[in-house]
Amino acid sequence: MSKPAVLFVCLGNICRSPLAEAAFRHAASEAGIDVHVDSAGTAGYHVGEPPDPRSIDEARRRGIDITGYRGRQLGESDFHEFDYILGMDSSNMANIARVDPGDGKARVAMLLDLVPGQEGREVGDPYYGGAEGFSITWSEVSAGANALLAVMIEEHG
Ligand code: 4NP
Repeated sequence: MSKPAVLFVCLGNICRSPLAEAAFRHAASEAGIDVHVDSAGTAGYHVGEPPDPRSIDEARRRGIDITGYRGRQLGESDFHEFDYILGMDSSNMANIARVDPGDGKARVAMLLDLVPGQEGREVGDPYYGGAEGFSITWSEVSAGANALLAVMIEEHG
């Protein structure tokens, strides 16, 4: 079987989903699990751009370099290529559903729905706030990343 592929999705692909990608990549690597990981935005505002400097700083504080990440927009082909597509908030979920061709293989969920006790909670958008919001984002996406990894280990071994 080919390695599982995971896509994290937010609005701009510069704040939350790059941090989710980094947290999941790190957690999978620590667990010795080979995965394909990427992130995308439902909007095209920041295509080709690096993550927000506050996301870069937050990841750096955790010892992870995300300066090489580049924004891209979610497309129909992602639903055929990825096994899991995880949105951050309910607005993302509505936007993801609009792109979903309906005949893909991806299982689509809101990230914190995977965390026991946090079902229905959103990873809030830190874009319009200060740096402290990015540390909250990191905690939330890390919890989601670890929960996703647990699901994948259970399903794929
Ligand atoms: P993200 O945050 O969806 O977590 O990447 C945002 C980034 C940019 C914008 C909105 C949200 N924007 O409007 O440009």
